Amino acid sequence: MGNKQCILITGASRGLGYHLHQLYAERGWTTFPLVRRESAAAGLRDAWGERCHPIVADVSNDECMPKITEVLYRHTQHLNVVVNNAGIGGRTYTISDITAGEVLDLLQAHCLGAIRCTQAVLPLLQAAKHAKIVNVTSRLGSMTKNAAGGFSDGQFSYSYRIAKAAQNMFTLCLEQELAKNGIAVYSVHPGRLLTGMAADDADTPPAVAASRFVSWLEAADDRASAHCISLEDGEVPW
Ligand SMILES: NC(=O)c1ccc[n+]([C@@H]2O[C@H](COP(=O)([O-])OP(=O)(O)OC[C@H]3O[C@@H](n4cnc5c(N)ncnc54)[C@H](OP(=O)(O)O)[C@@H]3O)[C@@H](O)[C@H]2O)c1
Repeated sequence: MGNKQCILITGASRGLGYHLHQLYAERGWTTFPLVRRESAAAGLRDAWGERCHPIVADVSNDECMPKITEVLYRHTQHLNVVVNNAGIGGRTYTISDITAGEVLDLLQAHCLGAIRCTQAVLPLLQAAKHAKIVNVTSRLGSMTKNAAGGFSDGQFSYSYRIAKAAQNMFTLCLEQELAKNGIAVYSVHPGRLLTGMAADDADTPPAVAASRFVSWLEAADDRASAHCISLEDGEVPW
């Protein structure tokens, strides 16, 4: 096993994932950015050269798993970090408008996508020392905040809140299983980002959130595992 630091980041074509990828590539890491379009992969390859190995895949279906393993196993025998970041926004805000199809789409991207990517890379994480899995969540997935009426003004979709809450439960299940293997599992709310998915109160450029993320992860230890960390203000209650 070499000493190189390797990271897989899903949703690296734009927004938070794009900026995270840029920061880790600038730091000399071997990167595996997962994107949906070949044009995005070509752009990353051109920009970052031989230490960047894009994966073209959609985390919303099982076909992403052999695509991920095929690229990773060709270039590395271990993986230090996986960031499950890919996601989409919800479309409807009331019980009259919501559809099962929308909820399924969001669950596929935010929760099942994170499960698929983690399954695909688990042996490589186990081959690294102190590997880390980071699931990018949202304050909107917090049961406690929702129960307190924090998002009751009709501006936040059912599907996004349901999908992030499901992803949070995955994080907790996974953390409990992998703690004994020395793999830390984190849930991180990146802030209210000025991206394609921005809420009305968004105020943080994704480049700023990415920089906070890198500093936070560098310092993160096992005590942060099983907590929902906010890059804005400490911690989000589950
Ligand atoms: N924006 C916010 O205020 C905010 C707040 C809290 C949490 N978050 C979370 O932060 C993460 C990043 O969000 P963002 O604001 O950076 O969003 P964004 O700018 O809309 O970027 C989303 C990224 O995910 C990719 N993606 C979506 N569905 C995918 C799929 N099925 N398979 C593979 N890639 C997929 C997109 O690829 P394409 O370019 O191909 O569409 C894009 O690269 C998400 O998990 C989001 O829920 C965002």
